[in-house]
Amino acid sequence: MPPKPDILAAFEAAKGFMPVDEGLALHAAAREAGRLGLPLLEVGTYCGRSTILLADAARESGTVAVTVDHHRGSEEQQPGWEYHDPSVVDETPGVGRMDTLPTFRRTLYRAGLEEHVVAVVGRSPQVAKVWGTPVGLVFIDGGHTDEHATADYEGWAPHLAPEGLLVIHDVFPDPADGGQAPYRVYRRALASGAFTEVSVTRSLRVLRRTGLGI
Ligand SMILES: C[S@@+](CC[C@H](N)C(=O)[O-])C[C@H]1O[C@@H](n2cnc3c(N)ncnc32)[C@H](O)[C@@H]1O
Repeated sequence: MPPKPDILAAFEAAKGFMPVDEGLALHAAAREAGRLGLPLLEVGTYCGRSTILLADAARESGTVAVTVDHHRGSEEQQPGWEYHDPSVVDETPGVGRMDTLPTFRRTLYRAGLEEHVVAVVGRSPQVAKVWGTPVGLVFIDGGHTDEHATADYEGWAPHLAPEGLLVIHDVFPDPADGGQAPYRVYRRALASGAFTEVSVTRSLRVLRRTGLGI
């Protein structure tokens, strides 16, 4: 079942980078993974656009969405780069850095989903290191360099429960379409033998954990 119209409207109104067709695929994966009754984990909150979909699925399953971000933006979102948005810069004198946390909080509040989300402000590898509970879904949409995407995979994939879903965004087999780090992580996951592909929706890949050796 796709998200109800109010959730879809909140998703479409939210700042962020995910197109609707990929969002619907993420929502479907989150609903399926929610049946495991475990938290649904996202790396890369930004302003909460994709979080809305995970939170809606978590609400349906009686679990929770956990979303991790340092809220300082990825490399390509910094001033002067392609995806920079000046409206999410903290203009406080002496700060002047990106801060997507206030916008994220407004997004969730407006969507009526605050109580279904645990927001963790921090660096993904550090959070993964202290994390101690299996999760039903890992959605990797954080930093898109090899360093960050690899650390997200190595940090979070081991926390994925058997039959849990690994979702990777911005997988571009053709370098002309985008950066290659998420694609390399996707190839690595498949090559490990621990994952089986479930679906492909444009740049969104859904894999199921069917084996052990990540
Ligand atoms: C592409 S955006 C996420 C988009 C979001 N999922 C959406 O649908 O709109 C990537 C986010 O990852 C965050 N990020 C990048 N590297 C990170 C890291 N190492 N730890 C935590 N967050 C990180 C950035 O701050 C940024 O908000």
